[in-house]
Amino acid sequence: MKLCVALDRETTEKNLQLAQELSGLDLWLKVGLRSFLQGGQKFLYDLKQINSHYKIFLDLKLYDIPNTMADAASEIGKMGVDMFNVHASSGEYAMRSVVERVEKELGEKKPLILSVTALTSFDESGFHKIYNSPIDAKVDEFAISSFNAGLDGVVCSVHESLSIKKYTADSFITLTPGIRPQKSQSDDQQRVATVHDAHNSRVDFIVVGRPIYQSKKPLEVAQTIIKQL
Ligand code: C5P
Repeated sequence: MKLCVALDRETTEKNLQLAQELSGLDLWLKVGLRSFLQGGQKFLYDLKQINSHYKIFLDLKLYDIPNTMADAASEIGKMGVDMFNVHASSGEYAMRSVVERVEKELGEKKPLILSVTALTSFDESGFHKIYNSPIDAKVDEFAISSFNAGLDGVVCSVHESLSIKKYTADSFITLTPGIRPQKSQSDDQQRVATVHDAHNSRVDFIVVGRPIYQSKKPLEVAQTIIKQL
């Protein structure tokens, strides 16, 4: 299991400071919408300058018509990131278009491509209003269509990881946000779990944001999590 730290602090400078502070660790860094809008491609470059071994997950959650998604994926491919994602609800055809375009352009150097199943901030009733389905059933369905489209894995909650691997493959990656060192701290996440739960559910990547960057000692928190991996 690998730790991916969400760089969700309020400015590019603060995110770079955090990356600097954690630079001795073997980590993935997640760059989300706000950080990317603030810092653009230069921010990605600066992160690799801090530590060339940092792996970058560009979390832009593409959702559009297939051709537009493939075009966007092609641009992301040029940025040299190690992983990016799309929404599974964009459909199997759109996801396949993304995979085919990136494979054609980058071959072996293609980044990992994941899809977002259900956001971990959804509870059952909020999810049902949009998808008219229980979360677990829809997540399995999304995972199967992502697998069939040729993606490398999915973003899901810890609670869904085992079932997803059962319906797809052991090697199909599960990446889970909503990880909390203590279950009592959940912020806006509804479906939270601990590092230990993630380990038991054979999760491949855990994403941790606020418990690390809002702490007074981010390095210590990250080191403690790494010890539990
Ligand atoms: O601060 P916290 O640990 O809750 O951060 C979780 C990160 O994972 C955030 O950057 C959020 O955008 C992202 N994320 C999520 N749920 C998903 C996909 C991404 O929380 N399904």
